[in-house]
Amino acid sequence: MNEKNEQKKLDLPDSIDYVLLDEATIKAQVRQMAEEISADYEGIHNEDFLLIGVLKGSFIFLADLSRRLTVPHRVDFIALSSYADKAETTGAVRMIMDTRADVAGRHILIVEDILDTGYTLKYLYRLFDARQPASLRTAVLLTKPDRREVDVPIDYLGFEIPNVWVVGYGLDYADRFRTLPYIAALKPRVYS
Ligand code: XMP
Ligand code: MG
Repeated sequence: MNEKNEQKKLDLPDSIDYVLLDEATIKAQVRQMAEEISADYEGIHNEDFLLIGVLKGSFIFLADLSRRLTVPHRVDFIALSSYADKAETTGAVRMIMDTRADVAGRHILIVEDILDTGYTLKYLYRLFDARQPASLRTAVLLTKPDRREVDVPIDYLGFEIPNVWVVGYGLDYADRFRTLPYIAALKPRVYS
């Protein structure tokens, strides 16, 4: 390892194993996703296009993505919980806060941080689909394909990642590490 990398490693919080996606890599990919979305929704009216971010994990991704869109849009949020404070899935999804905006007749883009088993996005997809949107698509920053248990469509994807618990760029472990500018793997001893 050269000196610069050595220094970087020393700067990492103790619970971090390694950086999976650095700031520049995330930025470039989010920019590309925004370009693709902007092209697909070209000509849309402001009131018709609604990004729905899934709290809390997607707040940074949504902030960066929405600021890169060149088409007019509105932003709303929904808050769910499927995990207690640990890195385990129960498959049970609970709504904590619904959107404020009306979904009916609007073009909806669900913005989610990470797809693991797929239960959360499946729940959201069904929820919004039942509210008669003009269209319904999903933008997902990360997916762990090895963990998928239910099928759910991803229209815009950032990265496929291995089955490790990741934090940073909005993602957390027990509400920690969300504001790290990169996405990193947590040391297994922290979550197991
Ligand atoms: P499912 O299994 O429903 O899970 O697809 C999606 C939700 O699980 C959380 N999740 C993670 N959060 N690092 C995180 O910070 C991870 O590695 C991770 N894996 C799953 C996340 O809240 C997501 O919305
Ligand atoms: Mg989430």
